[in-house]
Amino acid sequence: MKHLISLFDITAEEIESIFTISAKLKKELKEGKTHHILQGKTLGMIFSKSSTRTRVSFEVGMYQLGGHSLFLNSNDIQLGRGETIYDTAQVLSRYINGIMIRTFKHSDVEDLARFGTIPVINGLTDLMHPCQILADLFTILEVKGRLKGLKMAYVGDGNNVANSLLHGCAKVGMDICIATPEGYGCDEGIIEEARSDAKKTGCKLVLTEDPVEAATGADVIYTDTWVSMGQEAEKEIRTKTFMPYQVNKKLFSHAGNNAMFLHCLPAYRGMEVSEDIIDGPDSAVFEEAENRLHVQKAIMAMLMQKL
Ligand code: CP
Ligand code: NVA
Repeated sequence: MKHLISLFDITAEEIESIFTISAKLKKELKEGKTHHILQGKTLGMIFSKSSTRTRVSFEVGMYQLGGHSLFLNSNDIQLGRGETIYDTAQVLSRYINGIMIRTFKHSDVEDLARFGTIPVINGLTDLMHPCQILADLFTILEVKGRLKGLKMAYVGDGNNVANSLLHGCAKVGMDICIATPEGYGCDEGIIEEARSDAKKTGCKLVLTEDPVEAATGADVIYTDTWVSMGQEAEKEIRTKTFMPYQVNKKLFSHAGNNAMFLHCLPAYRGMEVSEDIIDGPDSAVFEEAENRLHVQKAIMAMLMQKL
């Protein structure tokens, strides 16, 4: 594993290793054990979009591993004034040991990895959010003790989170049913990639417009905002279109016994999820958010320790 850009590019064994290291680092953090795994190493964090969890968990994670992080708002560096990805990648590779980037165009992240000589971590693009889904799957593993054979239901917008969820579930062999309104489905290329992995792992991959079909018998119900970063102008039409896809008590009643609720956050109560679900006993959203820290520490250790 050289980079973490798409979950399709990594193996199920690598995901297993990430989870083993995450569990160890989580336990050791709670026990007060300190680490120097990334001592002397610097992570550059380029942000072209807002963030709470990604920014704070990567920065704190780097600190906890003995390393250092640099917050680079893309508007403050020359990238925002037209310096090329090629030059940025070449220059940063000479100063720092890894790059985490959150941006719009997925191909910019791929280019950064192609043109530089250091590991690149995708902290969200318009197309994918792989670190989030690794933390989600780790959370499910902690609660349920397994992933294979469980059913994931994603209800809402076929966005970056849904795309990476398709990749991730297919990779680890978890059944997945995604319910989206017509015209708001997942990326076609990602569906194809996920189908090829699902064939190998033997899991079911279903795409539907019916939220009840997705929720029925599910072990996990997952949703995300209807208005992703960059789509603010479409808020009104999206809110109207997605209302029948709200995860609420009625929809949740179709899920299996002990089903859990996940949301990558930030959440909009009364929109994609009702308050009684996200703040109710089946919700694991804050454990999920915490796990971003542990899982990303494992990813950074695996990618940057080798340098
Ligand atoms: N889930 C997530 O990526 O949150 P932030 O946008 O706050 O980083
Ligand atoms: N789909 C959301 C996820 C935020 C973490 C967005 O891209 O804004």
